[in-house]
Amino acid sequence: MKDIIIAIDGYSSSGKSTMARQLAAAIGYAYIDSGAMYRAVTLHAMRQGMISPDGTLDTQALTRALPHIAIDFRVPQGETASHTYLNDTDVEQEIRTMAVSAHVSPVAAVPDVRHALTEMMRRYGLRRRIVMDGRDIGTTVFPDAEMKIFVDASPQERARRRHAELIAKGNTDTSYEEVLQNIRQRDHIDRTRSESPLRQAPDAIILNNDNLTPDAQAAWLLEKYRQIADA
Ligand code: CDP
Repeated sequence: MKDIIIAIDGYSSSGKSTMARQLAAAIGYAYIDSGAMYRAVTLHAMRQGMISPDGTLDTQALTRALPHIAIDFRVPQGETASHTYLNDTDVEQEIRTMAVSAHVSPVAAVPDVRHALTEMMRRYGLRRRIVMDGRDIGTTVFPDAEMKIFVDASPQERARRRHAELIAKGNTDTSYEEVLQNIRQRDHIDRTRSESPLRQAPDAIILNNDNLTPDAQAAWLLEKYRQIADA
């Protein structure tokens, strides 16, 4: 089997993270959640008052702060999954809140932010053997990835899944409509930004998982991996 890079791109809440995590565990690869990196930068900007109450982002202040933002992934003691760390603090819970979701796409549209994080991501891929999920992994971060998947699902199905996820985590304040609106808004910003927009790589394999169970999806991915890494 060849050591390869697996890029999983697609829309918000399409189940990318779950499938990327499962595949990485099944084949002994590292899983890197690029969205978590954008979320961590957003949390930093929020904590430092770089985002005003009306949502305006102080882009210059954020650009100046970038060299002082360290992001990494570690498995905390007693846990099995890796958590996102921002400047040595575990922020895994905080970065998944709706407050961060509301501000992340404008932050991710800032070219300097994208350049800094893209560089960080490429360092993870130096020895290949990674599964990375995001919006531009197969197009910009690793255009030479051996396996590229583009995941699609309807906005309604994605909102249903994300809403159920929030409820399961005890967040009962957010309605399905709010989640759907946030998803539509982020889809729009991610697709239309000038720097590295969300688009499908020409050589990506498309997976529409509207009607696929998680198990069926995992089996499909593993089969694709074997075909590509064995070739
Ligand atoms: O999990 P969910 O699909 O809600 O989003 P995520 O993967 O955590 O990413 C959060 C946000 O970061 C996205 O809505 C994008 O705006 C941005 N992002 C990006 O621009 N490029 C990436 N490679 C990953 C995320």
